[in-house]
Amino acid sequence: MSTPVVYYGSVVNPKALDVYDALPRCLLAISAQGNIDFIVEDVEESLIQQTLAERGLIDVEVVPLGRYEFIMPGFIDTHTHGPQFPNLGSGGQYELLDWLQNVTFPMEAKFSDPEFARRTYTSVVQRVINNGTTACCYYGTLHLEASMILADIIHAHGQRALVGKCNMNRNCPPTYIEASSATSIEDTKSLIAHIRGLAPAGRALVQPVLTPRFAISCTDELLDDLGKLASGDNALHIQTHISENESEIAFTKELFPKAPSYAGVYDTFGLLRQNTILAHGVHLEPSEVELIKERKAGISHCPTSNFNLSSGVAPVGEYLDKGLKVGLGTDVSGGFSPSILDAIRNASIAAKVVSLPYKGRDDIPGKYTNRMLPIPTLLYLATLGGAEVCDMDKEIGSFAPGKSFDALIVDTSGRSGNPNFYEHASVDKALDGKKALEAMLEAFLFCGDDGNISRVYVQGRLIGGKSFARLD
Ligand code: GUN
Ligand code: ZN
Repeated sequence: MSTPVVYYGSVVNPKALDVYDALPRCLLAISAQGNIDFIVEDVEESLIQQTLAERGLIDVEVVPLGRYEFIMPGFIDTHTHGPQFPNLGSGGQYELLDWLQNVTFPMEAKFSDPEFARRTYTSVVQRVINNGTTACCYYGTLHLEASMILADIIHAHGQRALVGKCNMNRNCPPTYIEASSATSIEDTKSLIAHIRGLAPAGRALVQPVLTPRFAISCTDELLDDLGKLASGDNALHIQTHISENESEIAFTKELFPKAPSYAGVYDTFGLLRQNTILAHGVHLEPSEVELIKERKAGISHCPTSNFNLSSGVAPVGEYLDKGLKVGLGTDVSGGFSPSILDAIRNASIAAKVVSLPYKGRDDIPGKYTNRMLPIPTLLYLATLGGAEVCDMDKEIGSFAPGKSFDALIVDTSGRSGNPNFYEHASVDKALDGKKALEAMLEAFLFCGDDGNISRVYVQGRLIGGKSFARLD
């Protein structure tokens, strides 16, 4: 975008784990560089121009939002697998280790064909964007060329993302395994260089991420080499899986008998730090929670996948009380939906499942442990919490001057195309201002879909959403 833009209307802004601002009649000014310039709350329509002039903005375009629209920060998907989208909706009869061998690895192996990769990733990326995900942590496959193609496509679409090629040199089928630690590292370095060459430093929306698939698929030598690569480059993000499934944990302990724990395996090799994203963490031991907190690594909570692959229910409330960073992940295709809205709903259900035995008790310690997650917390996990997990909370996750305008315009009117939204039955017409906005947000989180997401912006640039698709 090349000129400043000002939006006038309702804004939802996550603030902390237990609070968000619902701001009707807001002026939200975006700079020509796509950053938030200022937010002024509760401005009378007749005072818009005067308010802008007081802040030095004259003759600037003001975009009014409709009565049933609001702006919110874009969703952050802290964990998904680009090459598994063709498998969406299949494999739920398996548990993790059998699912990988029978369903996942055979599909990922197909990405040795760059044309298949290009075709698939082109539709994957626009689909993820149209679901409101402005920042996404993608796993590719083990293939260098396909992973470069994934990064190129994301870059061309203007989405913010971390992109990694999987490191995996053992316990994988012969048709889908890396030959050695040396070749795995060589390809990883090539992908890092390729991604960092896409945009000038400081303006890069796509960044590389080290992606040891999980401890089981990496030899000690490979983990050690990845740790060395990480130690020379603090900006390099790291993503992996941890403690998702009980058979996986048992096998990990067999493979690394000297490690104090599963988290301890990653820590031993220097892979646990402030920009490490750990997917799942369903069955973490108390000492692992402490270690992860000490290292400032984050958990990607993937409840849809944890239900679908019968992995278990992560005690997210406990993690929040203990001070862990937590965000949400779709984990396609362990999870059967690419929408963070589904992750929000399943995170809510997961917390309710955990809370059921404690119903009606008033002696539960902590604020979140063994309790339902309230709406502000669900919103936080999907936005600012995800930004913290990605170590990007200074740039994204909420609206504040200087942060990037990574945002959604949400339409909860009867014209959205989502039949759950009648004109507008789910919001009491007698409600006004803040209460109506809170009701619209709740309806969107619990029964919204991509039909309600009319525009998706990253760094101020329109990159997707329903209106964008129509214009396309
Ligand atoms: N653990 C190792 N690889 C995977 C994967 O692709 N998906 C999930 N859910 N867990 C994993
Ligand atoms: Zn995963």
